[in-house]
Amino acid sequence: MSNKIIIAIDGFSSCGKSTLAKALAAKLEYVFIDTGAMYRAIALYFSRNNISLLDPTAIANALSQIQLHFEYNPHTLKSDMYLNGENVELQIREMQVSSKVSEVAAIAAVRNFAVAQQQAMGQHKGIVMDGRDIGTVVFPQAELKIFVTADPAIRVNRRLLELQATDPAITIEAVAENLQHRDHIDSTRAHSPLRQAADALVLDNTHINKEEQLEMALKWARERIAHD
Ligand code: DC
Repeated sequence: MSNKIIIAIDGFSSCGKSTLAKALAAKLEYVFIDTGAMYRAIALYFSRNNISLLDPTAIANALSQIQLHFEYNPHTLKSDMYLNGENVELQIREMQVSSKVSEVAAIAAVRNFAVAQQQAMGQHKGIVMDGRDIGTVVFPQAELKIFVTADPAIRVNRRLLELQATDPAITIEAVAENLQHRDHIDSTRAHSPLRQAADALVLDNTHINKEEQLEMALKWARERIAHD
């Protein structure tokens, strides 16, 4: 029987982390966790309930009211995000949430709340988790850490195509501005900013397709699993 490992996948917004993490988890029969969805669900709750991001008491109270869980969706072959029992998978991908989520994810209390749950999910290993701080903060002991990068123009185009599926009026300028804004906040925030772990392997997918990217990551994963 092969040993299960923890695979941490980090990188900037829209560089294909979730696509890779999801495919890798399916191949290895591991659990896939999209931690960005958790920050998005929290941002959605804050926005629905008009929680001021400058009010620590309101934030603490709001967090105590939030229950997050993932549930497998057989139609999309991926887990949907549930906020207090409601499937919010579609709402959390909308621009209204995307434009606020980085500010919410920069709040220390929010990060502590989300990270504790993420660490609990990895207790039994056999997990592929994607985010910004997985290899540095959530699982610094992960057996495999992958830092995904891609050319910014490619990332904007990929994100535009994704968003156009539900919002045909979306412009390339709006997408580019949102990505730049999030990258800036995610990488400059005081609390666990996005950075490449010293022992992470870099995967630049600008010039390779999804299958080639998966092959590279699978090779790394199988080497780690064999040696664990
Ligand atoms: O991966 P994503 O775009 O869905 O992430 C949404 C936001 O949440 C993004 O602005 C960065 C933040 N995030 C984070 O700070 N830490 C994580 N582990 C995952 C996401």
